[in-house]
Amino acid sequence: MNKDLVGQIAVVTGAARGIGQAIAVALASRGAKIFANTPVTQLSCTETIQACRNAGGDAEEIVFDVSDSAAVDGGFEAIAAKAGKIDILVNNAGISRDGLLIRFKDEDWKRTLAVNLDGAFYCVRAASKVMIKARYGRIVNIASVVGQMGNAGQVAYVSSKSALIGLTKTVARELASRNITANAIAPGFIETDMTLALDEKVRAEHMKGIPLGRYGQAAEVASLVSFLVGPDSAYITGQVVGINGGMYM
Ligand code: NAI
Repeated sequence: MNKDLVGQIAVVTGAARGIGQAIAVALASRGAKIFANTPVTQLSCTETIQACRNAGGDAEEIVFDVSDSAAVDGGFEAIAAKAGKIDILVNNAGISRDGLLIRFKDEDWKRTLAVNLDGAFYCVRAASKVMIKARYGRIVNIASVVGQMGNAGQVAYVSSKSALIGLTKTVARELASRNITANAIAPGFIETDMTLALDEKVRAEHMKGIPLGRYGQAAEVASLVSFLVGPDSAYITGQVVGINGGMYM
């Protein structure tokens, strides 16, 4: 196994399950020490931490809700105090509240934007203060193919993911002179608890739009993140990298 992240400190938000867990494990297996984030009210990262250790790495839990600015600042200060630096930030935490536009509730709009967009902004702001001092950093934001294409019934989710792409490009331009890269990943349908719970008919409908004819795996998304935070991608910044089986080209 490639150990090109030995000695690096990585923060992965929303790491208790799904894609975030796979990312944490992939980075740990390459030698990074992981701070696996989860919000207070939800899942613990015990399983993720164990999986990181089984993969030959190290991890610990850091609890904060990404939509809470003060809690995010406190969390990143605690990580910096303990680890002395932050090399890698992966903004993975996300929620989806779906519904048709004309019936969409203010509270669902606000909560989706608060987690998916405000959360990423708070984390990037807090982490970049530490990265700027070290003149090194790798930031990856998990957007979505629907942030590139639009999607009926997902007005808040799509808006948050499109905006996350704009945030990524701006961060990339602003921090490039400090040797900090920022890229977004736009996954298509990935097999997680969320997509496995879908009705067979819905899944069959999805397949029609995916040239490769299958959902992606969380581990495949994690491999892409590993590349974007590793030494071989030093000249890649401000990009949106699709991982979608060809459903958007
Ligand atoms: P998931 O629902 O399994 O995982 C989301 C994680 O975010 C959970 O661990 C949850 O605890 C955490 N989270 C939620 N609210 C939070 C908050 N306020 N603060 C901190 N953590 C919070 O979903 P999945 O599928 O693993 O998605 C991960 C990311 O990938 C999300 O940003 C999602 O939008 C994105 N994505 C997923 C796709 C899929 O097909 N599964 C496709 C495209 C993008």
